Amino acid sequence: MPRIPLIIDTDPGVDDAVALVLAMQSPEADVRAVTVPFGNVEIEKTFLNARRVLALAGRTDVPVAAGAARSLVHLQDEWAPEWHGADGLGMRSADFPAPVAADPRSAVALMADVLAEATEPVTIATIGPLTNVALLLAVHPELAPRISRIVAMAGSLGAGNTRGRAEFNVSADPEAAHRVLTQPDVPVTLVPLDLTMRCLAGATWLDALAASGPRCATLAGVLELYRAAFRERYGVDAVALHDALAVLEAILPGTLRTTSMPIRVACDLGPARGATIPDGRPDAVGPAVHVALDADTDAVLTEILDRVRRLG
Ligand code: RIB
Ligand code: CA
Repeated sequence: MPRIPLIIDTDPGVDDAVALVLAMQSPEADVRAVTVPFGNVEIEKTFLNARRVLALAGRTDVPVAAGAARSLVHLQDEWAPEWHGADGLGMRSADFPAPVAADPRSAVALMADVLAEATEPVTIATIGPLTNVALLLAVHPELAPRISRIVAMAGSLGAGNTRGRAEFNVSADPEAAHRVLTQPDVPVTLVPLDLTMRCLAGATWLDALAASGPRCATLAGVLELYRAAFRERYGVDAVALHDALAVLEAILPGTLRTTSMPIRVACDLGPARGATIPDGRPDAVGPAVHVALDADTDAVLTEILDRVRRLG
């Protein structure tokens, strides 16, 4: 079976944790590196959490490096402790084994090394703020041809999930998102809230995960605070596994059905800051982004569960 060389840039984050385990339990995924920005929680915690999740998955072979601790231009003004817990793992970080070792390189340096050493183009799945990937493209434009595509969980054509109009990953660093989504060098597949919020994992899914073994029980426990937040905010006993959808698409290209359109990001300081706006003008300029707006959501959820539960 063809294996996909993959870098995952992630801000764990409870749905990030599921996405990381999904990748680690998928034989098609040749995970060359995990890199971490700030995001759901501070970089010190996202970095620790990524290494904790890899330890849970028994993956000491994958280097993990920390990157951006801040957004590029304006400071992030909204965090997500009510969704991910102050520790970033649903207040269950104590249930995890000791974290795997930290790679001493910066995220950009690690990504650059992986790209430079790869004998075939590498997919980058970015499931947090896009700061590290924007920096990579800025510092190493010569490596763009070595990136086969960027699959980004980010954005929303409709309502956002922050205080303003924006989806969280974009709101955390709109300038970085704009940089990545409007550059012509690397194809981008965008996985927005428009799809991820239509693909909710319900009680049966969550119970099946919890019953799949002790490590799956730990992972399911991480989702409990997030599940309660969904009940509170949306009135549903279910959770959106935003990041897992993006990683599944990165591993199984074509799983999500896309529509191509140029995307702009509002980078002003007004109420729409961080909005991702499709440019539908006939004379729209800039590269088209492949926006995932449709999928067989039942099949997607089944695929994610079947793979994640291999963790045992
Ligand atoms: O808006 C959803 C995104 O924001 C996901 O990546 C989640 O982990 C949070 O970071
Ligand atoms: Ca995330």
